[in-house]
Amino acid sequence: MTQSGSNPAETPLHTIDLIRKKRDGGSLEQREIAFMVAGAATGSIPLEQLSAWLMAAWLRGLTLDETRALTLAMRDSGEKFSPVRLGKVAVDKHSTGGVGDKTSFLVAPMAAACGLAVPMISGRALGHTGGTLDKLEAIPGYRTALTLTEFEAVLARCGASIVSQTPALVPADRVLYALRDRTGTVESPGLICASILSKKLAAGLDALVLDVKTGSGAFLRKQEDGEYLAALMVATAEAAGTRTVALVTDMDQPLGYAAGNWIEIVESLELLRGERNPESEDLRELSLVLAGWMIHLGGKATTPEAGRQLAEAALEDGSALSIFFKMIEAQGGDVSVLDEMDISPARMGGSTRFFQPGATDALLAWESGFISSMDTTKIGWAVQRLGAGREKAGEPVDPHAGILFHTRRGAHVEQGQPIATLYATTPAMLAELIALLKEAITIGRILPQTLPLVSRIFTRETAENYLENAVR
Ligand code: URA
Repeated sequence: MTQSGSNPAETPLHTIDLIRKKRDGGSLEQREIAFMVAGAATGSIPLEQLSAWLMAAWLRGLTLDETRALTLAMRDSGEKFSPVRLGKVAVDKHSTGGVGDKTSFLVAPMAAACGLAVPMISGRALGHTGGTLDKLEAIPGYRTALTLTEFEAVLARCGASIVSQTPALVPADRVLYALRDRTGTVESPGLICASILSKKLAAGLDALVLDVKTGSGAFLRKQEDGEYLAALMVATAEAAGTRTVALVTDMDQPLGYAAGNWIEIVESLELLRGERNPESEDLRELSLVLAGWMIHLGGKATTPEAGRQLAEAALEDGSALSIFFKMIEAQGGDVSVLDEMDISPARMGGSTRFFQPGATDALLAWESGFISSMDTTKIGWAVQRLGAGREKAGEPVDPHAGILFHTRRGAHVEQGQPIATLYATTPAMLAELIALLKEAITIGRILPQTLPLVSRIFTRETAENYLENAVR
């Protein structure tokens, strides 16, 4: 109560005051954050004011309390999913966004094959990063927009389901995510944390494994920023009651050899079929580590290493592949296009019965030397601008657009050797994007230092310690 006897908790709020407070470096209280979130979800706050507030939050940063309040208010902004009737432990994995990151297509069926339920609510392309839903929708007929009843039915039948948010699930993130994509406010630890976790917590998960990317293709490029985000997300999700770990992983080059929509499905299928090739080894390894943690947190293995072994067995005995196919069919996808004969030529840069890109060209090494660095954000933009992403929210994407990489960072190339094959919607796009790729890739004389695929793992305890000592 104030001296005058009025209760501050009942004082009416005004959006402009909250924008100015954040702009001037203040911290918003829980009810002020809840007010902004409700305004985003219901449309009562106009987009220009939400944009201004997002920019203020991006520039000033959010405190731990603000981040927690934002996450919970967003989680509670709409309907929620309850996996309880499935009678299984519900576990998921989520990445902060990368280029060529297709681990979802591997970890979801591997964890489901080990007896867990994997209710995966995923996103679309954001900024320079690809979207799991856009990739899955490259499979003709695959429906990502299921109702929660349909979602539960697919989970009961297959153990895994990958869907989009329903209009009513975390509606605040729908609005804020699309605005952030268009207002240059994606790369903020607090906003990323709240965006990802609100959706994950609304799915009623028992446990969650986070893959926090760092390096040239991550939203937060610096190792220390990635670590802060990882610790922030673990502490926030644990405080909300979900067992969570975060792995800080390398995004200094695309993960695996394919970046795009359909071609990422092709690469994932090869691994699910038990095939191995050197360009996909990082993808295979990271998927196994992530799935190992999911299986461990889900109580099916005493250690993450034992979980990894179970995941690998599911890959090798074909059980993960069969769950993937079942899930595609259950969500209306045409599995005939996933026929072995039909996907293999795409791997080699050729077209197939289904895969008919509008235009194609190769990037050839302009000199001999080592691939010494890859600006993976630039590569991600090139993939998006070839047609795999959208300029405006709601636009269709080209399922066939993308880039196949024929070599990895650290590889030696001879002048004239193909480095990558580009697939574009139209031939007019190719020249600009070849030039962008050339800018993104450096060929040098010195073998570059290789970075560890997983540089750090945060559990609840290590995350809390880290945040206590973090100076932000
Ligand atoms: N993925 C999300 O869902 N939200 C973000 O802010 C970043 C990646």
